[in-house]
Amino acid sequence: MEIKKVMVIGAGQMGGGIAQVCAQAGFDVKLNDIKEESYAKGLAVITKNLSRNVEKGRMTEDEKNAVLGRITKSLDLQDASDVDIIIEAAVENMAIKKSIFTQLDGIAQETAILASNTSSLSITEIAAATNRPEKVIGMHFMNPVPVMKLVEIIRGLATTDEVYKAVEDMTKKLAKVPVEVNDFPGFVANRILMPMINEAIYTLYEGVATKESIDDVMKLGMNHPMGPLQLADFIGLDTCLYIMETLHEGFGDSKYRPCPLLRKYVNAGWLGKKSGRGFYVYS
Ligand code: CAA
Repeated sequence: MEIKKVMVIGAGQMGGGIAQVCAQAGFDVKLNDIKEESYAKGLAVITKNLSRNVEKGRMTEDEKNAVLGRITKSLDLQDASDVDIIIEAAVENMAIKKSIFTQLDGIAQETAILASNTSSLSITEIAAATNRPEKVIGMHFMNPVPVMKLVEIIRGLATTDEVYKAVEDMTKKLAKVPVEVNDFPGFVANRILMPMINEAIYTLYEGVATKESIDDVMKLGMNHPMGPLQLADFIGLDTCLYIMETLHEGFGDSKYRPCPLLRKYVNAGWLGKKSGRGFYVYS
């Protein structure tokens, strides 16, 4: 089962990054979005990232153009009919993901693998919306995708060893490190990261320290590249809340309750860097 042709669904921050690293590794990539405008925005970010590589001498202009030449626009899911793997990076909403996977199951060739970049939703449940649960798998990339080495590979209940191996091999070709995990809420990355971020928000909420101090403690004391509140803004506070709710509901344990301050910020539309304001203000 060798993967050559890839389709990425969603040209946002994650989907665009995934398309970029796939094209850089030599795969032919169809980058799909429902809106032409979103595709154009995604491609502009990829072009900017590649241009920075050229400026830094890591890539020639010709190589950059070759990478861009391997990315084609798709505004129709029917384009999935001839690819070997589809990596879905649409919004974190179970109903939307199930609908996409049901459609893809009807379009993709029988041998195609259906992967999701979900950060915490059940791969087993997404797989159940298809007639090929053994070919459904999680491929959880980290943000920013071109920089971060890890890909959590999540086995759904029915995922076969053959499918796991094909995805593991592909991940290595992307110059990433695959880590195998089982399908439980938040997998490993977000089960550990999000409660830390949530606790940092509680620490702010309870007035223990200022946001800057909380971030400094974790940056200077634990050598984290970003403080937890800065990282929450970077990930998106809506995403953080959604993952905490998934952990809370999935485990039924109060230790995962989202901090009321996080909910308040999300209700206010303070979603972090992407909305111009979260714990910090961005110009
Ligand atoms: N896209 C592409 N490249 C980027 C980038 C982006 N969005 N952001 C930064 N970079 C590159 C820069 O170009 C730079 O490359 P060079 O060394 O070639 O110049 C390099 O990364 C370092 O960037 P900076 O010098 O600007 O800044 P930095 O040293 O602070 O690094 C960072 C930036 C890599 C984002 C670093 O702050 C970091 O590692 N932060 C933590 C990120 C993290 O924890 N990610 C996981 C989030 S959780 C997640 O994604 C999962 C989930 O489900 C929520």
